[in-house]
Amino acid sequence: MTSFWSIWVIVLTLACLIIIFSLLVWNLKNYAGVKEGEDCGHEYDGITELNNPLPKWWTYMFFATFVWSVYYLAAYPGLGNWEGLGKWTSSNQGITSLAESKEASKQAAEEGRYVKLDKEYEAAQERFGPIFNKLAQVPVLDLVESKFEGDAAQQVALENGDKHEQTDGQLALEIGQRLFSQNCAQCHGSDARGGTGFPNLTDKDWLYGGSVDKIKETLLYGRVAAMPSWSAALGEQGVKEMTAHVLSLSGRTVNQKDAAAGAAKFAMCAACHGADGKGSVAHNLPFGAPNLTDNIWLYGGSQRAVEETLNHGRAGVMPAWKDILGEDKIHLLTAYVYSLSQDK
Ligand code: HEC
Ligand code: HEC
Repeated sequence: MTSFWSIWVIVLTLACLIIIFSLLVWNLKNYAGVKEGEDCGHEYDGITELNNPLPKWWTYMFFATFVWSVYYLAAYPGLGNWEGLGKWTSSNQGITSLAESKEASKQAAEEGRYVKLDKEYEAAQERFGPIFNKLAQVPVLDLVESKFEGDAAQQVALENGDKHEQTDGQLALEIGQRLFSQNCAQCHGSDARGGTGFPNLTDKDWLYGGSVDKIKETLLYGRVAAMPSWSAALGEQGVKEMTAHVLSLSGRTVNQKDAAAGAAKFAMCAACHGADGKGSVAHNLPFGAPNLTDNIWLYGGSQRAVEETLNHGRAGVMPAWKDILGEDKIHLLTAYVYSLSQDK
């Protein structure tokens, strides 16, 4: 707000309060010239006007709201550009990145400002941090084995006054699922089955590998896929032929002549997808190139979708979570994601 409008708001608000207060005080005096409770001498259709004072309870309540308004305007922000004596804000404003957010929180703490969201976050961290940390010491495979029992679940039940019914393994997976809903579901879906461009995490088809270590690596550091565009190298006819070959790899009926022409050029794809097209994971490669032989498609298995992939390339981005969630939470998420593709 510019200072003109800030002053405008402050003056109007305070003037309003002063006028209301003066009206109240003015009305407490007896100006009628007759004693309280007596007839003022006006009569309208048989109804006489008595000189009654304002009810006491009403007057006190009015004073109370007045005192409250003054306290509120002084303590909290809102009156023009006034920050409030309590230096209270609901959250840091104008944040566009994690680094900015951390910087703003640090600065607020140094200046002694009360940022509600930061305080809530700290309280949650204090309460749940030790539990997350305790669970994060347990190897993922033990957590997924939901029989695993330590003392974290017991502690949680005790704090909540609940019966201790969960094992630590079950607790860890439940926390993992919540973290997933909050941070991952917008891309991978709430059931983790993914969608176009976002891999299904519940099957055994992996771009980067489904071992505990690989999943954790994906979550910590993120992944960037780099499937180049082939329109220049292959030309329109070449893309059509390569598409036929790609579709034939998963047993689809295609034009045999085109497919053979495509197969002859597949060497250019082998560096990432493997010579047999079974993908990076099958060949222990780090590129995240999908298996092209299983009829499971990240971007769709229609002729059109494959042609589009080849013409324009694809570059799926999985964000890195290390700095956002921290390693303890990622450990629990790893357990949850790992558990999704295991046969129950
Ligand atoms: C902004 C969208 C987005 C969000 C949010 C996101 N992901 Fe991803 N994730 C992707 C994309 C896109 C890929 C595939 C990358 C590629 O194409 O190579 C991926 C890949 C993965 C993979 C690798 C799958 C494989 O087959 O190897 C895992 C595991 C994964 N995500 C888990 C998670 C978890 C857990 C979270 C939450 C902490 C999460 N993702 C949040 C977009 C997202
Ligand atoms: C530099 C490594 C690399 C090369 C070379 C490469 N690809 Fe890919 N390809 C990838 C990656 C990585 C993806 C996954 C893209 C993503 O996740 O966004 C992919 C995805 C695809 C897909 C989409 C699969 C799906 O499930 O939707 C097809 C089809 C494909 N590639 C075919 C080819 C063909 C045909 C060639 C050779 C002309 C080729 N690729 C060459 C890395 C490569």
